[in-house]
Amino acid sequence: MARTHYIAGNWKMNTSKAEAVKLASDLVSALKGKTNKFMIGVPFVYLDAVSQVVKGSNIILAAQDCAATANGAHTGEVSTEMLKDLGVQCVILGHSERRHEIGESDELINKKVRRALNEGLEVDLCIGELLADREAGNAEQVCAFQLSADLAGVTEEQMKRVTIAYEPVWAIGTGKTATPEDAEAIHKFVRGYIAKLYNQKVADEVIIQYGGSMKASNAPELLAQPDIDGGLIGGASLKAETFVPICEC
Ligand code: PGA
Repeated sequence: MARTHYIAGNWKMNTSKAEAVKLASDLVSALKGKTNKFMIGVPFVYLDAVSQVVKGSNIILAAQDCAATANGAHTGEVSTEMLKDLGVQCVILGHSERRHEIGESDELINKKVRRALNEGLEVDLCIGELLADREAGNAEQVCAFQLSADLAGVTEEQMKRVTIAYEPVWAIGTGKTATPEDAEAIHKFVRGYIAKLYNQKVADEVIIQYGGSMKASNAPELLAQPDIDGGLIGGASLKAETFVPICEC
């Protein structure tokens, strides 16, 4: 089954406002007319400015997190209502930096996933094992646990708006990439697990991105794997010169 290639940039806590606007406008010009699916995950404070730049383009605007609840007394939180107000279409959730630096639990991630989907947004759900899990032979179990916990209560219909990003934590920002074969093995497992949680149709249609030190030099081999449908790119997404070639793979 032919799935669209989906290349996403996760800018994390980087760029100034001027750099964000410049990067977004460079990407709008460079990706114009290209048919793959593209997304950029922009820091909250620059979403408004970047939204004006990507409006009407083929680039999906994403936030890097959202609150699990509706507007109200939640100091420091950013709601899905606010994000939608700015033209945001997608939210990256469950990123390992939020799981392991901030301490987000799967229970909280699940609340955010359901909140975003119930509000009509797309979700890019990140999963992946720590080095210790991999060394103990537990990579698949960790991914299976995260998938079942984070997707609890998500309907088959809502799964059309869910992308999974498999990001082995030991490969993020470290320059270490999983070999295409190792990555493919987990992607295949994840697809099979989605088939168990839902059905084969949902599994065949779900886009599964790889993330972790992806760059133009290793992207072609990774993207050539049958179950790797795209990438969630951190470091290499911060410059048009390094991100666009991945989008063109
Ligand atoms: P990286 O980050 O490409 O810098 O490894 C990927 C990610 O965390 O999404």
